[in-house]
Amino acid sequence: MFETSCKMRDTTFRLLRDLIYNYCGLTFDDQSKYLLEKRLANRLVEHQLRDFHEYYHFLMYDKNRDQELNTVVDIMTINETYFFREEQQLKAFAEEILPLLKARKKEEGKRSIRIWSAGCSTGEEPYTIGILIQQSGLFRGWDVEIFATDISHRVLQTARKGEYGKSSFRSTDAYYLEKYFTDVDGRKRINDSIRNLVNFGYLNLFDTDRICLVGKMDVIFCRNVIIYFDREGKKKVIRNFENRLVPQGYLLLGHSESLMNLSTAFRLEHLKNDMVYQRV
Ligand SMILES: C[S@@+](CC[C@H](N)C(=O)[O-])C[C@H]1O[C@@H](n2cnc3c(N)ncnc32)[C@H](O)[C@@H]1O
Repeated sequence: MFETSCKMRDTTFRLLRDLIYNYCGLTFDDQSKYLLEKRLANRLVEHQLRDFHEYYHFLMYDKNRDQELNTVVDIMTINETYFFREEQQLKAFAEEILPLLKARKKEEGKRSIRIWSAGCSTGEEPYTIGILIQQSGLFRGWDVEIFATDISHRVLQTARKGEYGKSSFRSTDAYYLEKYFTDVDGRKRINDSIRNLVNFGYLNLFDTDRICLVGKMDVIFCRNVIIYFDREGKKKVIRNFENRLVPQGYLLLGHSESLMNLSTAFRLEHLKNDMVYQRV
């Protein structure tokens, strides 16, 4: 009979914690051993491993390690999100940034805009951006791309499906529900006119080589993501964004996040509705 021990030794906890950190930047303090133990216990059973030390070896050396790391990320990430989150910032985006962007593009003789939702979770954020762009009416006939990425395959699957329950709409005006969603089996599905603006993809924000392949962006939304990284992690991700933004491009972080002491490549721009970061 095979016996599994779901107790984690302190040394194994530190090894697992460092492995997850190096892979995706998520940090766990010394008090998080129980959390890891609890969340990863089923993985031992699934792979018939004796203890967490064997699991650590599996994650390091097994031929299926990449797949298993994906599963760990799916289990450990926090994916909380909803439509029209942080309304005031979205107002600044729709009423101030978009018109500025249009004017600048016109000067340059261009008719395309690219926006990146980095850490898009189940899709509510990029679809909200799509709704705001369409609603603005500023870019009819333009080439509009919303690039939406996340490290969790599970959330991306939901995002691509585009069907949502009540909790996704805790901050959505009835007007938008009526105009941009269709009822399907008690849930709401985003309409194709918005869905077709968004391209979803898997991307680890710490994978600088792959991020270099992402084209230049006019605006990057990265909200409620870097809050889970340590200082070094934040710095690395922000450097990656700096390289992907056009000069004077905008970076929109979550309200509890800031670039203070992290980067000098951005200035805080005081718009009427909110403060946003702009590449200098
Ligand atoms: C709390 S959600 C934020 C969703 C949305 N941006 C919002 O503000 O509502 C954070 C998302 O960041 C993703 N994430 C965490 N670490 C990541 C990494 N290293 N690379 C890419 N995405 C990551 C998680 O999978 C999760 O879906």
